[in-house]
Amino acid sequence: MHTKNQSIIVSGGSRGLGLHLAERLLENGNRVATFARSRTKAMDDLSAKYGDAFHFVELDAVDAVGVNQFVATVADKFGSIDSVVNNAAIGQDQLLMHTDLDTIRRIVDINIVGPTLLTRAAIKRMLLQGNGNICNISSICGSRGYAGLSVYAGSKGYLDAMMRALAREVGEAGILVNCVAPGFFESEMSSVLLPEQLATIKRRTPSGSLSNDENIFKVVDLVISGTTNMQGQVVFVDGGITS
Ligand SMILES: NC(=O)c1ccc[n+]([C@@H]2O[C@H](COP(=O)([O-])OP(=O)(O)OC[C@H]3O[C@@H](n4cnc5c(N)ncnc54)[C@H](OP(=O)(O)O)[C@@H]3O)[C@@H](O)[C@H]2O)c1
Repeated sequence: MHTKNQSIIVSGGSRGLGLHLAERLLENGNRVATFARSRTKAMDDLSAKYGDAFHFVELDAVDAVGVNQFVATVADKFGSIDSVVNNAAIGQDQLLMHTDLDTIRRIVDINIVGPTLLTRAAIKRMLLQGNGNICNISSICGSRGYAGLSVYAGSKGYLDAMMRALAREVGEAGILVNCVAPGFFESEMSSVLLPEQLATIKRRTPSGSLSNDENIFKVVDLVISGTTNMQGQVVFVDGGITS
């Protein structure tokens, strides 16, 4: 166990990977704040179980005023913001020639503008504190090509590139900025994959298995622990498919 007694923001913690990260970080004795556009039963369950150590609000990641307010509230409630995990995102399952303008704009807004706003608000607090960890959940799509995911892939490539520049901006202030890039894992987002597509991905994966939430948690936990000198890196959790 690496990360303990931290105040951590995980965006998009209502389900999928974000929910698993929130649950495991809480179990390990951290305080977790998260948001999503809609509340799920899991959010009520975590509130009942962890009380003041857990904070959830319904918030759209692209609401700049709301995101600033969220960060201010979390900093007041928890006393600090030690780590941010930029996890909230939407997927894509369409060739570019069939992707309409509205869909392109939504992916860019949620997957690019959203994490940028949250990071901007959080690093202001972290710079005052003199420490902090930013961990972007990127994707192997940011570094390798997969048909039907062009705009999504571009948004993940943005996170990787933005992370490297930001690491140079805030590194000297004690803030570590990195990306964790999972391969495909089971969630609502990846449910668009057909069984034969999943079988092909597995066949091409050197480890023979897809990553799961817990594999990814273990790496995120290390990245935000503050115990590494890892800075400006993309860490793949993909069973070696990109190797
Ligand atoms: N699944 C995969 O195979 C895979 C592979 C590589 C990387 N990833 C990345 O892993 C991360 C988690 O993916 P997942 O598969 O767990 O996704 P998911 O099951 O679809 O969950 C996405 C979460 O983000 C929230 N969210 C989406 N849009 C939002 C918005 N505008 N404002 C606030 N919250 C928003 C969702 O809640 P609401 O919809 O209620 O807002 C939900 O809590 C993403 O960054 C994804 O790109 C996924």
